[in-house]
Amino acid sequence: MKHFQIIFSNFVSPYLQEANSKERPDIQLKIDHSFDVFENSRNICGSLPLRTELSETAQIAALYHDTGRFPQYRQYKTFKDADSCNHGILGARTVLKHKLLNELPRKQRNMVLGAIAMHNRGQLPSFISDDLRICTEIVRDSDKIDIIKVLIPHMTGLQAGNEVPLMGLTEKKGEITQSIIKSVASGKQASYNEMNCLNDFRLLLLSWAYDLNFAWSRKEMIKRGYVETLLGQLPDTGQIHALHKPIMEQLNS
Ligand SMILES: [Fe+2]
Repeated sequence: MKHFQIIFSNFVSPYLQEANSKERPDIQLKIDHSFDVFENSRNICGSLPLRTELSETAQIAALYHDTGRFPQYRQYKTFKDADSCNHGILGARTVLKHKLLNELPRKQRNMVLGAIAMHNRGQLPSFISDDLRICTEIVRDSDKIDIIKVLIPHMTGLQAGNEVPLMGLTEKKGEITQSIIKSVASGKQASYNEMNCLNDFRLLLLSWAYDLNFAWSRKEMIKRGYVETLLGQLPDTGQIHALHKPIMEQLNS
């Protein structure tokens, strides 16, 4: 694994060096995120009875899942796919273009490319192999757990220069979009393009409780106090309070 970490570090290093002082924290954020998602994937793999090869493939996919973020930001200066490009697809293309994983056997490499390309999809297609599904699900859970960790300080204004990670959404006190809260209340994952303000983003993060695939991730969401923190930042209404119990039941399942 060390070898693939070095290749990844060598790949991202010019993006960091070429960025100006305003852009640098955004790039650094994605580098740190990549390594933290890798760490989460190690924990998930450790909690599952996986073959060594599949476990290794999932961990490499986790480390490389956001490869597309670096060329995306260089070209468009945003992490918002809707305003730029699909960073999952761009990531798979970038790994191929730069031959980053050419030392991996073809079967493993194709699985990593598939997981990178699909890590940001709303849902996974039904026709993929069991191994690719597990691999992608490990990446998706690892990613979600870390994204919430990264975003919470930005949402509380503790982190300056926070427009890029929050995708341009701003605080609109007391506002929530009804279609988003309806999704969460009915146990469904909310969708990015319905969001109008930061409260919607908080609800979207909470809705991920319903899209986690592994017990490790559900327990981790509880352990890290995400539910209480996010609910505590939302308007103090009965509609919001009512979300707590079903979300906790889901996470304890
Ligand atoms: Fe991503």
